[in-house]
Amino acid sequence: MKGIILAGGRATRLRPLTKITSKQLLPVYNKPMIFYPINTLVQAGIKDILIIIAPEYAGHFLNLLGSGKDFGAKFSYEIQEEPRGLADAFLVGENFINGDNVTMILGDNIFDHDFSEDIRNFTSGGHIFAKKVPDPERYGVVKFDENMNAVDVQEKPKEFMSEYAVTGIYIFDQRASEFARNVKPSERGEIEIPDLYRQYLERGELKVSILDCLWEDAGTFDSLLRVQNYWARKNGVSV
Ligand code: G1P
Repeated sequence: MKGIILAGGRATRLRPLTKITSKQLLPVYNKPMIFYPINTLVQAGIKDILIIIAPEYAGHFLNLLGSGKDFGAKFSYEIQEEPRGLADAFLVGENFINGDNVTMILGDNIFDHDFSEDIRNFTSGGHIFAKKVPDPERYGVVKFDENMNAVDVQEKPKEFMSEYAVTGIYIFDQRASEFARNVKPSERGEIEIPDLYRQYLERGELKVSILDCLWEDAGTFDSLLRVQNYWARKNGVSV
């Protein structure tokens, strides 16, 4: 199992914080944001990790993270010239994946959860993780039937579809890059990740687990503040 961390993008929603650095390097309590997804992968036993970064701050990532030795891992890097969408990670990372299974985590997604068992038990297909949220329209969304079987997935649906957001960690088999190539750009000009994992769903090969842990996409001021407070409290600070 290989790992990919997608830490590209321009994070315009977090300006001016992101005017001089990358979102994934901003502090989340006592660590840069990207340490959290790195720890999520390493804790789950994934040591061979590709970090996909935007050109602007590539040097900062290298200075901070280096070879990966400090994390007990091996890091490789790829530059994503333009933010073309999440599914693009499987095209940028195709050589790195090289026919293996892969877990991708978004560089701004913070979980307080151990995925070791899911990674160990993965054999083939796709495995995604959903969480009930008050604002599903912000995310990729998964709809279930009465037996909790996933029946549909959509990126930021305009009409209410389900309370379950799809979180930013995905486990796919070696078909991920091939499926990414089939995806057509959306209205916002990106190749959206639900259009990739829908191809597993259509084949009856998508597993969806429900998470009940802390999860934040730290891409807004409010979620960034919430997640900082969460880790501060976990470290015994009263905030
Ligand atoms: C992205 C994905 C979305 C997913 C979310 C998780 O949204 O497109 O499917 O639910 O991450 O954080 P974005 O952060 O690009 O708006």
